Amino acid sequence: MADLTSDFAGIKSPNPFWVASGPPSNTAHQAHRAFEAGWGGVVWKTIGDPIVNVASRYSALNLGPVRMAGFNNIELISDRSPETNFREIAEVKKRWPHHAVIASLMVDTRDHWHEFVRRSADAGADGIELNFGCPHGMCERGMGSAVGQNPEVAEIIVGWVMEAATIPVIVKLTPNITNVVHAARAARKAGANAISLINTINSITNVNLDTLVPEPFVAGRSSHGGYCGPAVKPIALNMVHSCAADPQVNLPISGIGGIGTWRDAAEFVALGASTLQVCTAIMHYGFRIVEDMADGLSAYLDSKGMRSLADLRGRAVDHVGDWKTLDLNYKRVARIDHEKCIGCNLCYIACEDGAHQCIDLVDSTPYGLGPGRVPGKPVPLVRESDCVGCNLCSIVCPVDGCITMTPVDSGKPPMTWEQYQGRLAAGTMHPLPAHP
Ligand SMILES: Cc1cc2nc3c(=O)[nH]c(=O)nc-3n(C[C@H](O)[C@H](O)[C@H](O)COP(=O)(O)O)c2cc1C
Ligand code: SF4
Ligand code: SF4
Repeated sequence: MADLTSDFAGIKSPNPFWVASGPPSNTAHQAHRAFEAGWGGVVWKTIGDPIVNVASRYSALNLGPVRMAGFNNIELISDRSPETNFREIAEVKKRWPHHAVIASLMVDTRDHWHEFVRRSADAGADGIELNFGCPHGMCERGMGSAVGQNPEVAEIIVGWVMEAATIPVIVKLTPNITNVVHAARAARKAGANAISLINTINSITNVNLDTLVPEPFVAGRSSHGGYCGPAVKPIALNMVHSCAADPQVNLPISGIGGIGTWRDAAEFVALGASTLQVCTAIMHYGFRIVEDMADGLSAYLDSKGMRSLADLRGRAVDHVGDWKTLDLNYKRVARIDHEKCIGCNLCYIACEDGAHQCIDLVDSTPYGLGPGRVPGKPVPLVRESDCVGCNLCSIVCPVDGCITMTPVDSGKPPMTWEQYQGRLAAGTMHPLPAHP
């Protein structure tokens, strides 16, 4: 079995799966339940001066039968007193000395930061996470994403924290920023030990068309909230990659955003994450999901001959680069397996109306008859010479493995946009013909 133990900037945990700061990490009771279920760490619900929450607080994007494809909240930080939170952290650490407990903090002044950093260490926390990401409520009070969106301010506050810190400090970054790398660099410059990302993305999930008030509904009004869950994973992966690829950041990364399966976890690790934090999937399915995540990740590493997470970490980072580095002469085309095709024609319509008009509906006689297809009904056939290999038909096709994107020899050597421009400028090449 592959080794899943984790040492994240000096914070040790039996596996890389941490409960993210949020409702599932609000109390000692939940932390005990999380560790019993198999989580390696818990990032406590953000501690600060007690706040007052509103009802209601959550809304979701449901896509057909898929509930909570995206999740939105207008909840603030912990509504429990710092005394209670620090006392419970100490209790949890006592019972689970080998698991990671991280105190998430959000306060305002330098003195306040010093005080809360010291209290976290005194409670026995293994590390501190600075919540520079909350995009609602707290930012109106000059905290949360108001700090994370301003690298100069973030640098100053991380500096204050480092003055008092005796345990590792993780800076949790907001995605509500044009380029997250600037905030990550600021964290590094100020001496942070690690970064975590992403916090939630500003959102309004829907408008009730009877009341004309979006959810979550609060006495006839609503507010923009923080978006998370499966829908944000692509954004999180991109931001994790940006930080992992930037030599000036060079900090361990805790990946967060839409993680719910071992596959999600493996993708984050491949793009540079060392630990994985989960909030929405726990709110949806409970702490038990960690069992499948740990087993699945371990089995995947085994199947690839990898002995530990370190063997996977960052392996996909160099496979992503600027568009100008891609090979313009690489060609792939769509091929349809007519034995699997159910004749829904979604691919035909997609290519006809949304792509390059190169799927024809042809006489089915020479082709296999897929499940449920009516004899005599035309079948879709790709005109490969005109196919630009965009993937659209394979994405819309409801049958797995029915449309395969297949590489074909373009007969031309690899050439990037940069090389193309260089050759045009040198006069060694004519402009490529435009598509008819
Ligand atoms: C209801 C709710 C409350 C949250 N509260 C906090 C918080 O107090 N501190 C914090 O740093 N992040 C908080 N988050 C953000 C999560 O820790 C996490 O960054 C985000 O939800 C993305 O991960 P996910 O897609 O697994 O939910 C909260 C998220 C939700 C859904
Ligand atoms: S890959 Fe794109 S261009 Fe080619 S057949 Fe499919 S939809 Fe049409
Ligand atoms: S989308 Fe797939 S199943 Fe439907 S007609 Fe096209 S190839 Fe067949």
